[in-house]
Amino acid sequence: MKLLVSVWFLCFLPLLCTAQANRDICNAKPKDLPLEPLCVYRSPDPEPGTEEPVEAEEEIPESTNPRVWELSKANSRFALSLFQELAKGKPTDNIFMSPISISTAFAMTKLGACNTTLEQLMKVFQFDTIKEKTSDQVHFFFAKLNCRLYRKKDKTTELVSANRLFGEKSLSFNETYQNISELIYGAKLLPLNFKEKPELSRMTINEWISNKTENRIQNTLPQGSIDPNTILVLVNTIYFKGQWRNKFDKENVMKDDFYVTDEKTCEVPMMYQETKFKYGKFDEDKVKVLEMPYRGEDITMVLILPTKGTTLSEVEKSLDLKKLVGWLDNMKEIKVAVQIPRFQIEDSFSLKEKLQSMGLQDLFSPHQASLPGLLADESDNVFISDAYHKAFLEVNEEGSEAAAATAVVAIGRSINFNREVFIANRPFLLLIRESTINTIIFMGRVANPCGGNQ
Ligand SMILES: *[C@@H]1O[C@H](CO)[C@@H](O)[C@H](O)[C@H]1NC(C)=O
Ligand SMILES: *[C@@H]1O[C@H](CO)[C@@H](O)[C@H](O)[C@H]1NC(C)=O
Ligand SMILES: *[C@@H]1O[C@H](CO)[C@@H](O)[C@H](O)[C@H]1NC(C)=O
Ligand SMILES: *[C@@H]1O[C@H](CO)[C@@H](O)[C@H](O)[C@H]1NC(C)=O
Repeated sequence: MKLLVSVWFLCFLPLLCTAQANRDICNAKPKDLPLEPLCVYRSPDPEPGTEEPVEAEEEIPESTNPRVWELSKANSRFALSLFQELAKGKPTDNIFMSPISISTAFAMTKLGACNTTLEQLMKVFQFDTIKEKTSDQVHFFFAKLNCRLYRKKDKTTELVSANRLFGEKSLSFNETYQNISELIYGAKLLPLNFKEKPELSRMTINEWISNKTENRIQNTLPQGSIDPNTILVLVNTIYFKGQWRNKFDKENVMKDDFYVTDEKTCEVPMMYQETKFKYGKFDEDKVKVLEMPYRGEDITMVLILPTKGTTLSEVEKSLDLKKLVGWLDNMKEIKVAVQIPRFQIEDSFSLKEKLQSMGLQDLFSPHQASLPGLLADESDNVFISDAYHKAFLEVNEEGSEAAAATAVVAIGRSINFNREVFIANRPFLLLIRESTINTIIFMGRVANPCGGNQ
């Protein structure tokens, strides 16, 4: 029997996403919750003397549960390794994904997992780096993280996430599993007739996804992905829409060349503004980093641009969480002349191969997978056949009513050398993150912004 995990979401940028969190859980204590998945994995204690040195300078943000902070870091580490895995496979294409959406879908799967299947989930998603040693507590901290991410921040900013289980109607699913899934992830089970109507079921799920993402994400599950053996499909969606705190003026948009490579250019509408932003130039790492906030403050877009003469793949290869946090912590609020393209990118991929090469083997294997917690009869012949992810991003000047801000500027000409410039006219990386707790909501590479409708 197979199970499909589908993950996807989309981002409208400026935009953001939100989870329909169950409000009660936001105030609950672990003891108040009936959180008893079938199997619990306990991370081994480190061998004496091999503990990671305590990072003395690290400060946990105010009113943040230390475990939630660690979970956020675990998710970020997973995000960066998955990104590197994707980057290897497509060295010159656009990439866009929501790592938090992927982690959430697999955490939902983890609720039913045992043995090495559970252990590999703990390791690949880095949940075993949380100081709380047992795997069942991860779900509690996930719920707390979601409460924090998806609380309403500003009327103009929307960050919405929705989860759902679609199960074969002739089977009965373990009630404890369903209850935890609904309580923690807000994911109710909807029965569908996979056995007799696989194609209709696929369309139903795709429509649900489309509805939860303002119709931005369509046809997530490809033809043939659902067949009569499918028993469960887990879906996580995330949708973000935000407005820049400092909008770009439509009058300051000009067509300009984007250097896809040194030799190959394409024409993009380049937006321009000169504003105080958090900015840093890190010569050792050969990057410039710019952080542009959305209204409501906590959600920002971080752009990472290699300095001239450096390729993006050099930057990608050495990128890890320590380096990223180092940049983010060492930026200064300073006036920067910013040019970034207006663009849309869409990306979709199957996660199976990527996760397998990261070490998530058993879950996808009809012989090795151990997911006895899902069905009521504890039958253990269930495995995950595939996992799909689809994401969309649009970046524009959004609401450039700040019309009077600047006179028309000839982009790329009147650059005054006394100010910092950030000209994203060659491939760059971007993150959309929650900045107080540093959760990476979206991550991508903009290698060619000229496709898509402008
Ligand atoms: C459902 O799962 C729980 C553990 O989460 C287990 O204790 C229980 O026996 C299972 N129920 C059935 C009917 O298999
Ligand atoms: C999982 O572990 C339990 C207890 O160690 C064992 O009884 C069971 O057979 C294992 N299941 C699989 C699929 O390996
Ligand atoms: C699941 O939740 C329902 C409704 O809240 C409750 O009646 C039922 O007893 C719960 N089942 C288990 C096994 O926890
Ligand atoms: C999603 O479905 C609800 C209820 O059917 C409807 O009110 C809403 O407009 C739909 N949203 C989109 C984006 O289609």
